[in-house]
Amino acid sequence: MAILVTGGAGYIGSHAVKGLLAAGERVVALDNLAVGHREAIEALQTVADGRLAFVEADIGDRDAVRATLADHKVDSIMHFAALAQVGESVEFPLRYYRNNAASALTLIEEALEAGVERFIFSSTCATYGEPGPGFIPIPEDCPQSPINPYGRSKLHVEHMLRDARDAAAAAGTRFGFAALRYFNVSGSDPDGLIGEDHSPETHLIPVVIQAVLGIREFVTIFGEDYDTPDGTCVRDYIHVNDLIDAHIAAMRALKPGDGRAYNLGIGKGYSVREVIDSVKRVTGVDFEVRSGQRRPGDPPKLFANPAKIKAELGWEARFQSLDEIVATAWNWFREHPRGYGS
Ligand SMILES: NC(=O)c1ccc[n+]([C@@H]2O[C@H](COP(=O)([O-])OP(=O)(O)OC[C@H]3O[C@@H](n4cnc5c(N)ncnc54)[C@H](O)[C@@H]3O)[C@@H](O)[C@H]2O)c1
Repeated sequence: MAILVTGGAGYIGSHAVKGLLAAGERVVALDNLAVGHREAIEALQTVADGRLAFVEADIGDRDAVRATLADHKVDSIMHFAALAQVGESVEFPLRYYRNNAASALTLIEEALEAGVERFIFSSTCATYGEPGPGFIPIPEDCPQSPINPYGRSKLHVEHMLRDARDAAAAAGTRFGFAALRYFNVSGSDPDGLIGEDHSPETHLIPVVIQAVLGIREFVTIFGEDYDTPDGTCVRDYIHVNDLIDAHIAAMRALKPGDGRAYNLGIGKGYSVREVIDSVKRVTGVDFEVRSGQRRPGDPPKLFANPAKIKAELGWEARFQSLDEIVATAWNWFREHPRGYGS
């Protein structure tokens, strides 16, 4: 039996592959390498002890997915493959619905056909949109009302999984899923084997580190007049390894008929200004910071209430300090300033 990791050559998927290998599992990573990195798979092969297979294919390629599920006797799927740039999703919405929703539908159909019992889905706090003041910190029962095509493409998959689960349960088929709604995933595996490499990079910690490395001349803060302690936006930064531990815990707990949803965050927020200060502290490098206008669709505060996953699975983030998280990101970027291609 093996676990299929879609998007296994990407940032989070590659950390999932590493975590699953460390947990003794057999893994097949499937990625179309549209934005993923073959180098990540090659690095993972060095620690895999022959337990990692790689398939270069698209999740929407029915024949390739079917063959992969059968050839590797897949009984569980962790589905990370997606396009994940909010701005790009506004410009090219149908590309997002095609890749993240329509192709995911093919994957889900084939998973059910092949008798896959557990499906763990990368969802996002973007499915909540702009939660009202009564929903901060955000619980799982906060209304889901995404404000961009990226968030909507992810919510469609949650709906597909829920309906498929209902039908499977009615038909007596063993199938359960968990939708894990991530907040800001950050940091890299501390041993430096794999790391974060997005192009273009839009996530705050790597963007700020690019200023340290001289790849960017300065960092812009978009809005300093929000209703937050220092006026800048507050977000919940969860370390990627904690996130993967939660996936493994959810996968092991899933039973047929389950349709679980958990928020994955540390439960407290750090401001943009605090992230910048942390990067300066950890790296010992100063750089220019400029003020910019607010960006549309940027709520002042977004952070998770992670009480549900703690109560049900006993999971809690081990990385609670921003400096510790930033240190793991710096550990990677110091050696790979331009990612895998460095
Ligand atoms: N990074 C975050 O903070 C964050 C937050 C919330 C949710 N997520 C979700 O987590 C998942 C992973 O994000 P990431 O940051 O690792 O992104 P990433 O871009 O590094 O990785 C995504 C991987 O999926 C692959 N892929 C995309 N479409 C594919 C397809 N149709 N078929 C096969 N492979 C395909 C890409 O080549 C890439 O390797 C995504 O689903 C994203 O929406 C990420």
